[in-house]
Amino acid sequence: MHTLVPVFEDLLAGWDGEEIVTRYDGPTETWMFVGVHSTVLGPAMGGTRMKAYSAPGDGLGDVLRLSQAMTFKQAAAHLPYGGGKAVLAVPNVPPPGSSARREILLRYAALVDSLHGTYVTAADMNTGAPDMDVIGERTNHVLGRSRDRGGSGDPAPGTALGVFHGIRSAWRHVSGSAELDGVVVLVQGVGSVGDRLADHLGEAGAHLLLADVDEGRAEKTAERVGGTVIQPDSVIATACDVFAPCAAGAVLTAATIPRLACRVVAGAANNQLGSGEDAALLAQRGILYAPDYVINAGGVIHLAGYETLGWDEAMMRARLAGIGETLAGIFATADAEGITTAEAADRLALARLAAGDPG
Ligand code: NAI
Repeated sequence: MHTLVPVFEDLLAGWDGEEIVTRYDGPTETWMFVGVHSTVLGPAMGGTRMKAYSAPGDGLGDVLRLSQAMTFKQAAAHLPYGGGKAVLAVPNVPPPGSSARREILLRYAALVDSLHGTYVTAADMNTGAPDMDVIGERTNHVLGRSRDRGGSGDPAPGTALGVFHGIRSAWRHVSGSAELDGVVVLVQGVGSVGDRLADHLGEAGAHLLLADVDEGRAEKTAERVGGTVIQPDSVIATACDVFAPCAAGAVLTAATIPRLACRVVAGAANNQLGSGEDAALLAQRGILYAPDYVINAGGVIHLAGYETLGWDEAMMRARLAGIGETLAGIFATADAEGITTAEAADRLALARLAAGDPG
């Protein structure tokens, strides 16, 4: 078990963000960490992750890393928000709807409220719209409440549509056409995002390969949309045109990249690259990588667009399609400059941050 103080020193010394708010909530035995990485483009916005860590320092590490990624995601998505993230490091994740969970969320909501909008929260791992409804009882600085509580609900449909546009854009870059008719797309993980993505891809005529550790889910999606269920452990080496990781992170590593049998990697999962060097390994193999935080920004676009920016359906559709255009620019920059697509995405985000303007 690490002690928090040395971990704090090590982690914070290497972090370039603005502010970390830390609270140990005695009554619920919960460590609460809020990371305000950047407010250059607007309030720091990002989800609240609830997780039982083996040591609270691991939760702090997640907040530092994930809040920084949110700064890049918001900037690349042209949104007037900065990057933030929060972690509730709980002894055990209480069941949805339980009084123990409600207690943690209300006490956490008071902490969010005390930041006066510097940080705006939303759902993340192990939290959803019903949790945002509880947080909304104590603070207005929350997005993604249920529709009947004035929110825009689950952002996964926005994420899925954005990923669909991203896949079309990537396929156009490698094949000259954005048409997906007959293109083989392997979707890893058919949960909230992957299942909806499969619908879009099926409508576009793609041939789907579907994998989920919960095999029943993959079969259900295949029955509805068509396609072939494949075993989760055969995903990496299965031949396909497009590999769409929509489950866990770190699927692209020095161990997996040599075994990939696809032309494009373009999916919703966060933190797909095991390390910074893996983008170069993909490029060396001639595999086009759609940077994760660009292609999966549809969720934050959905939340911000509907709840704070006053967009109608048409505007939302246009902005989600814009993910494809942003990626086309990133692919072109990478080609022209001889850099990886991951580097080209970072340059785009950093340029918007330097200009102090989401564009
Ligand atoms: P989810 O939890 O609803 O679905 C994930 C699915 O992947 C589940 O069906 C699960 O059984 C399956 N799975 C887990 N490990 C697997 C493995 N090794 N192989 C095959 N299947 C596996 O999650 P959701 O919301 O669909 O998100 C998917 C990914 O996209 C996550 O990485 C998430 O962080 C990311 N993301 C989600 C957004 C959203 O709006 N929900 C927004 C941005 C990113």
